[in-house]
Amino acid sequence: MKSTLAQLTVQFDQALVAAFGPELAGTDPMLVPTTNPKFGDYQANLAMSLAKPLKQKPRDIATQIIENLDVSDLCEPPEVAGPGFINLRLKTQYLEDQLRAMQADPRLGVAPAEQPQKVIVDFSSPNIAKEMHVGHLRSTIIGDSIARVQEFMGHDVLRINHVGDWGTQFGMLITHLKEVCPKALEVGSSVDIGDLVTFYKQAKKRFDEDDAFKTRSREAVVDLQSGEDTATKAWKALCEQSRKAFQTLYDRLDIDIQERGESFYNPLLANVVKDLEAQGLLVEDQGAKVVFVEGFTNKDGDPQPLIIQKTDGGYNYATTDLAAIRYRIQQDGADRVLYVVDAGQSNHFTQVFQVAAKASWIPSGIELTHVPFGVVQGEDGKKFKTRAGDTVRLKDLLDEAVSRARADLENRIQAEERQETEAFIQNAAEVVGIGAVKYADLSHNRTSNYIFSFDKMLALQGNTAPYMLYAYVRVQGISRKGDIDFDHLPAEARIHLEDETEFALARHLLQLGQLVEEVARDLYPNYLCQYLFELSQKFNQFYDRCSVLQAAEPQRTSRLLLCDLTAKTIKLGLSLLGIRVLERM
Ligand code: ARG
Repeated sequence: MKSTLAQLTVQFDQALVAAFGPELAGTDPMLVPTTNPKFGDYQANLAMSLAKPLKQKPRDIATQIIENLDVSDLCEPPEVAGPGFINLRLKTQYLEDQLRAMQADPRLGVAPAEQPQKVIVDFSSPNIAKEMHVGHLRSTIIGDSIARVQEFMGHDVLRINHVGDWGTQFGMLITHLKEVCPKALEVGSSVDIGDLVTFYKQAKKRFDEDDAFKTRSREAVVDLQSGEDTATKAWKALCEQSRKAFQTLYDRLDIDIQERGESFYNPLLANVVKDLEAQGLLVEDQGAKVVFVEGFTNKDGDPQPLIIQKTDGGYNYATTDLAAIRYRIQQDGADRVLYVVDAGQSNHFTQVFQVAAKASWIPSGIELTHVPFGVVQGEDGKKFKTRAGDTVRLKDLLDEAVSRARADLENRIQAEERQETEAFIQNAAEVVGIGAVKYADLSHNRTSNYIFSFDKMLALQGNTAPYMLYAYVRVQGISRKGDIDFDHLPAEARIHLEDETEFALARHLLQLGQLVEEVARDLYPNYLCQYLFELSQKFNQFYDRCSVLQAAEPQRTSRLLLCDLTAKTIKLGLSLLGIRVLERM
């Protein structure tokens, strides 16, 4: 199904060429949906910007475009308004045909990408022996949604968990555990992740205070890097333990991701250095090997290089990311690599991408993009913490969302004097609670910081998961009440638009294809949330005003079809956000 915008764009192109000659082929018609239905559905703003190059008045240009514009299949006769806007109103027949095509299409009119790509989404990526924090939760939720959208567009997606499972911290952790809890190094399952985090803190403290400990820790790192048995075994046990804790969370959040941590690239790091050296890009700077990158200076205004190999010969986070870039392009055949990582790491990615580009490791046409996001704040606007000032454990956070969702649900059940099973309540609470956490994160523009509020995310009104779920449930309620099987409405039944609210709902439904394409391109899941929010609002306006089950045929069936299409759209939209729906709530 070709989007309306795409069809109109083709027609404008032809009209421009016919009116002003082939030089104008490919000019952006600047078509946008109108903000006020009074002016129709779309508005083309190109006449204003053509005034200068064509040395004519915008209104005259607009008139000449219209004279050559063949959109009679789609629109009522176009009109010129104001200084030279071209207003287009879609024909009812056209809207109804489009709705029919959308209904018949399991993809609801979202065309798959014309050129499927290999897309790597690097997301979540917590650090071993440390607790996952809310920053990782954001990356997990946003990254998963981005991956889902790419998959839906037909791309071949590799979801990569670039866990921090390598580096000096393991030296100190292993050294500390050898003394205080040797069993942890034998059998991973003998300590839980909470203990590990405590051990990690103790080890760090000793490392900073005790020189002998520091030396032993450094030796342990060397052991580990050279593949020595005990150290390797200990390291594996630690990774295994963290992995289990992470997996519990991924299962609960319905996240599919493949682990390929920093350690994976360890054997490739020496070559990164060698190849940069061979290209003359590496410079000795106070004993370290560095690459100077443009645009970075230190406090004194001197150029700030990116360190590739430290004075002690060790490699770092940047070296690993360079090796990962090469691997992803050469071995995985990636066309697009998306790094869903907090905005605090912007400099890191700019520098690493710049070095990779200098070294000609990024063939043309291959895109590496940092997809940054802001920090999660508490309701006081400060960094998100527990009352006691500790970092919030993700499990506790999800548990609280679910238990609050459960309390709301139980109140409603009681007020409505319903009888529900424990299984129903538990499932509904989980779907609403987890959905609310995800939706709250996704509905904010990812680049801004966002304030975490259980009350806001669980509210039944507003741009929240419960509001969206409720609109979906409302439609399922209609089907139950009227004993209607949406999948078996008469095959010849069609949607006929009459009421103004039906038109508004239909127009919005038909923008889905365009919208999902935009999200896939620009990587802003909040566009999709906004779309779903407006959809639910428009549906509620329609449903408050138009009777459905009580309407007379053929209006009744037409409206049932409209309800069903709305529900399917909400379900698809939420699935792209990683949120499940409920049939009742
Ligand atoms: N483990 C890192 C952190 O917690 C995030 C890794 C992101 N991915 C990457 N390729 N650098 O900050």
